[in-house]
Amino acid sequence: MGDERTRWLETAMGAAREAGKLLGRRLGDSREITYKGPGDIVTDADLAAQESILELIRAAFPDHAILSEEMASPEVEEGQPLWIVDPLDGTTNYSRRWPSFCVSIAVSENGRVMAGAVYEPNVDEMFHSYRGGGAFLNGVPLRVSSMDSLAGALMSMNWPYGRDAVIRTMRLLGCLMPRVGTMRSVGSAALSLCYVAAGRSDVYFHPSLYAWDVAAAGLILEEAGGTLTDLGGNPWTLQTAQCLGTNSLLLEEVVRLIADCR
Ligand code: IPD
Ligand code: CA
Ligand code: CA
Repeated sequence: MGDERTRWLETAMGAAREAGKLLGRRLGDSREITYKGPGDIVTDADLAAQESILELIRAAFPDHAILSEEMASPEVEEGQPLWIVDPLDGTTNYSRRWPSFCVSIAVSENGRVMAGAVYEPNVDEMFHSYRGGGAFLNGVPLRVSSMDSLAGALMSMNWPYGRDAVIRTMRLLGCLMPRVGTMRSVGSAALSLCYVAAGRSDVYFHPSLYAWDVAAAGLILEEAGGTLTDLGGNPWTLQTAQCLGTNSLLLEEVVRLIADCR
């Protein structure tokens, strides 16, 4: 990894940690909540975390573009590095003081995610990765699970917003639940994918996410030996809404079950 790119990851980790600490300090405060759509909220804490992250990235890399959930999308010039930020993933949890939430920051170049950091302040866990350099949790290398039987698998999912996507998710659950060991829902897409990377679960799916939910954790998952695809098993890109993260061993079987699910 070149010096410049080492700085990408260091800055991503530093900004994620700072914003995570800020979120931790403010967790008990009273909340200002605004609705972006049915069930989809933004709070004063999302905005404060975003401000703190943007300040650090802009100071370190004034020429880079930034896509962050709570602000307008940028124009990105060819070859210009793009930072992809979710200042608070798990906002609903956070707004209820349910302590599963994180900060997610990735850096991409020409549509390819190159570095990513996901920080969960309540347990002081920093997941991080640089493309080609492996995935780590607080500096310790990560590896996906060796679970190769769906019957023994721990699968996880999160609920999307919008009636159609919820109905689709319930149908998928109807097809998948009877086949897997058990199911969890953590309420943060980024953490759920990092948990597959860490071997804490084996499969994660979601029908409708954004690049900021997936970019950093998806790289961490791939660098830990997992696969990141859409629900049809096609490689994930920054434009892909569907998300399927697996330990690689269970990918084929899950894709088949999803394809057969009517
Ligand atoms: C949400 C979380 C949640 C998922 C939603 C996302 P946010 O992100 O990742 O788990 O089900 O679809 O939008 O709004 O908390 O950043
Ligand atoms: Ca999110
Ligand atoms: Ca968010």
